[in-house]
Amino acid sequence: MPPTANVRSSFSDLTFAIGGVKNHEIYFEHLGGGGGDPTGPIAPLIERDFGSIEAWRADLKATGMGGRGWAWTAYDWDEQRLFNYIGDAQNTFPVWNATPLVALDVYEHAYFLDYQTDRASYIDAFFANLDWDVIASWVSKYQIRT
Ligand SMILES: [Fe+2]
Repeated sequence: MPPTANVRSSFSDLTFAIGGVKNHEIYFEHLGGGGGDPTGPIAPLIERDFGSIEAWRADLKATGMGGRGWAWTAYDWDEQRLFNYIGDAQNTFPVWNATPLVALDVYEHAYFLDYQTDRASYIDAFFANLDWDVIASWVSKYQIRT
């Protein structure tokens, strides 16, 4: 095997590992709350950029149903608005210059023991356990204008 193939593989493995760490840090940090509708500064952003909380939730759920690895709600600094983005693997990031605020892990390992193939019910449980105070703290930390 030519050396360049090994180098490419190493870089790919490194980004997969780092992405996996960062994705799961977001995921676990904003779980453990009471779910419900968004509170704090992200609520008006979601309503502005998706039309309603329900429309955002339905869109993120559909995004999560379609992805292999992740679905994010992220603030895109270039467009200055929220988007739901699909991610295929730990290291297939959706876009540059966007900050994830909600990270939904849809790899089978996230739900299969509890929900088997019922990913939709897992996503509902994910929403029911989001900690909006943590997400609000990120909106403040990143100084996202609301
Ligand atoms: Fe995971």
